[in-house]
Amino acid sequence: PRNIFFSRHGESKYNVEGKIGGDSLLSPRGMQYAKALPALITDNIGEKPLTVWTSTLKRTIQTAQYLPYTKLTWKSLDELDAGVCDAMTYEEIEQAYPDDYANRDEDKFNYRYRGGESYRDVVVRLEPVIMELERQENILIIGHQAILRCLYAYFHHLPQADLPYIKIPLHTVIKLTPKAYGCDEERYTLPI
Ligand code: F6P
Repeated sequence: PRNIFFSRHGESKYNVEGKIGGDSLLSPRGMQYAKALPALITDNIGEKPLTVWTSTLKRTIQTAQYLPYTKLTWKSLDELDAGVCDAMTYEEIEQAYPDDYANRDEDKFNYRYRGGESYRDVVVRLEPVIMELERQENILIIGHQAILRCLYAYFHHLPQADLPYIKIPLHTVIKLTPKAYGCDEERYTLPI
C-alpha cells in the first residue's frame, strides 16, 4: 500500500515571534528538524520511491533541503494568505481589527482575511493538488498548518467546521495509508 506523509516545516523565525504568514527562514530548532527528518523518512519508507512536495515558501524548501528524493514546489501549497494581517501576531490583529477577530472565532472556516483567504478558499485552491495526490504513489508534503489541516480533513472525511481546529503540531510526521474506506494513520514526533 502507498503512503502519504505530511509534515509542517520546521519551526520558523515567525513561529518563534508568534507572527503569522510571511516568508521567514527556519529557527535553529527548525534547522535541527530539517537535519533529523531524512533518517526518519528513509527508515520508514525503505527502498520504495518517494517524491517530496513543498510550497514556494522558504521555510518548507529549507525543511526539505536534506531529503534525498525528487522535489517539486507547488504555489497551491503556500500557507493561507492572511492579507492585511500577514506578519502580525494574534494580539496585534485583535487590537487592529477587533470585529474581524471576533468574526473569525464565530466561523473560522468561512472567515476571509481582508485582502486574503479563508479556509474555504484554500480548500478550493487545493483541488488540483488533491487530484494529483490521488494519482501518485508515495508522497511527502512539507507544508503549512492551514494547508495540512485541509488535506488531512480530506483524507479522513472530517467536517468543514472542525477542519480549522485540527491539531497539526510542529516537528511531527503524519503517515497516512489510504484504505478502501478511510485511512490508517501513524504519527512520529521528533524530540526537538
Ligand atoms: O502560525 C503559523 C500559521 O501557519 C500561520 O501562518 C497561519 O496564518 C496560521 O498558522 C493558521 O492557523 P490558524 O488558522 O489557527 O490561525
